[in-house]
Amino acid sequence: MLRLARLALTVAVMLLIATACSPPPEDAVAPAPDVELPRIPQPGEFGPASHTYELTGPLVPYATTMVTAWDLPQNPETDAALDRREDGELIRQGFRLFTATPGEASRFTPSEMTCANCHLNSGQRELALPLVGSAGMFPEHNGRAGRMFSLEDRIVGCFYRSENAVHGPDNGGLEAARAGVAPGLVTDSTGEPLLPDVDSEEVVALAAYLQYLSEGYTPGEDPAWRKRNRIAPESLLPLDALDAALGEEIYTELCVNCHGPEGQGVQVGDKKPGPLWGPQSWNDGAGLARFYTLAGFVRYAMPYLDPGVLSDADAQHVSTFIISKPRPSYPYKDQDWQIDPMPIDAAFYRLGDGADGHR
Ligand code: HEC
Ligand code: HEC
Repeated sequence: MLRLARLALTVAVMLLIATACSPPPEDAVAPAPDVELPRIPQPGEFGPASHTYELTGPLVPYATTMVTAWDLPQNPETDAALDRREDGELIRQGFRLFTATPGEASRFTPSEMTCANCHLNSGQRELALPLVGSAGMFPEHNGRAGRMFSLEDRIVGCFYRSENAVHGPDNGGLEAARAGVAPGLVTDSTGEPLLPDVDSEEVVALAAYLQYLSEGYTPGEDPAWRKRNRIAPESLLPLDALDAALGEEIYTELCVNCHGPEGQGVQVGDKKPGPLWGPQSWNDGAGLARFYTLAGFVRYAMPYLDPGVLSDADAQHVSTFIISKPRPSYPYKDQDWQIDPMPIDAAFYRLGDGADGHR
């Protein structure tokens, strides 16, 4: 019965989404070109559906569910101020890379993962890995690498792991890793890097978009909404209590409608989640390949029609199910966690490689 009601709700919302997605009518009021727009638009002024809800600070509130998946408090494509800025086109390019990564950065994205699949509303949604105000926090110590990271270093890391750049498109990175070549030194016969680095044009453009999201914030002042996708320490289950079989039941009940029985994602309006596992997913060196990190995302951001309904424990079980499935292996794991202590939930570092591991 619950399943049926949920299915009906899903269908209703999908219909709603389909209509919400259509462009605004021609006669919608356009802002006068010379008026300075406020940095954070007010309710009703943004998004294809012009929803009337209060933003949470600069962010789309997580409880507004998937009907607001298309809303962008700050949209470079429609921000007229960017027409007059020298870096306007770079910021827009970064935004396009962020929202269509496999197409726009195909040479570094053998996966089907788009940055915005994980950073919902293009990094502008509460409790869904928001990136507003993050840029000013760099340089910052990175525990996994054990050194200071610039914003560009952080983006390169996302490419290597969440986008699985190390696996292609020509597999140069993976071959080099197997031969023991350090990632930064992997080049083609003309000396062009095969893997993204801090100077790659894609990385520079993405950094410009993230800087744009941080304009007006004081560098070094941690935004209140940053790194909040965490299960409270006292609610973390011990590793041996994580139950993939229970997680599969939860997946079948609450996730399968949109993510599909094979986890590869179902088209919802013009959105499609990235593959939760398999060769097109993030690799086993990514943050979301850790039990507690994935659970911290799922706990607050999913299921997209009812975010927040999962208990802390169920978020951990369903994440365990997802992590128990095969995914690409990150070939440089042995270079991570050399200085800072390795977190206990770094599953593949402790338990061995993902599906196509070579060691
Ligand atoms: C598979 C999911 C996933 C994908 C895809 C992904 N990220 Fe992330 N990203 C994460 C997680 C998880 C974190 C850690 C967030 C935290 O610590 O709260 C993160 C953190 C970040 C951070 C650091 C934020 C901060 O405040 O410290 C940046 C910047 C970032 N991602 C950019 C990107 C970019 C650019 C892309 C696309 C090239 C991308 N991410 C793709 C999951 C993802
Ligand atoms: C109503 C549809 C819907 C349901 C139900 C749903 N999701 Fe999602 N999920 C999405 C969409 C759409 C995205 C991508 C968001 C985007 O690109 O804007 C997503 C993204 C994700 C991501 C980020 C990585 C990726 O592969 O895209 C994870 C992890 C995830 N969902 C897990 C879950 C889990 C676990 C459940 C069940 C508890 C669940 N989802 C239920 C629609 C849904």
